Amino acid sequence: MYQTWEELLRACESCRQCGLCETRRHVVTGVGSPDAEVMFIGEGPGENEDLQGEPFVGRAGVLLDKMLLAVDLDRRQNIYIANIVKCRPPHNRDPKPEEQEQCIGWLRNQVKLIRPKIIVCLGRIAAMRIMNPDIRITREHGHFMQKNGVWMMAMLHPAAVLRDPRKKPEAFNDFLILREKIKEVCAHTYEAVQQ
Ligand code: URA
Repeated sequence: MYQTWEELLRACESCRQCGLCETRRHVVTGVGSPDAEVMFIGEGPGENEDLQGEPFVGRAGVLLDKMLLAVDLDRRQNIYIANIVKCRPPHNRDPKPEEQEQCIGWLRNQVKLIRPKIIVCLGRIAAMRIMNPDIRITREHGHFMQKNGVWMMAMLHPAAVLRDPRKKPEAFNDFLILREKIKEVCAHTYEAVQQ
């Protein structure tokens, strides 16, 4: 466990714990405020993220930013976004269980430094890994549960919403549910925002 962000980021950026390091162009550690009370966790970098070194910068990221903005959340100000695996799986395949296992320590360290009040899992892979291996995301997204003193909720992955735009209303409703939970349990996320 690294005690500072500088140490953690330096170590993570030179990680060679699994085969994904052979093909990555950037290690995608995360983006956002280290003081965030709300943390979003996705699956792993895609091509755009691998090229730019930042999570959710492709089409799914644009949709994510729009839905975030609608509930006064901003990736550079009042949240933190990370992924289960920090390096791109080739051809955007799902990260293998052993790759997740090798990588999860970095995320655990990030969570320990941030100490979020709320964790939002974006998509099935993150929700299974963080919340419950048996989760049925189509049924259980938008429902909060408490685990180790942290409120957790799964959301539909924005890429899944892009593939099926009929899902937009239920996906956006989860952001409204999140906004209410933030008002209930977070002290400073909405501090600078006019209500
Ligand atoms: N999908 C993810 O799960 N994470 C990213 O960073 C980009 C796309």
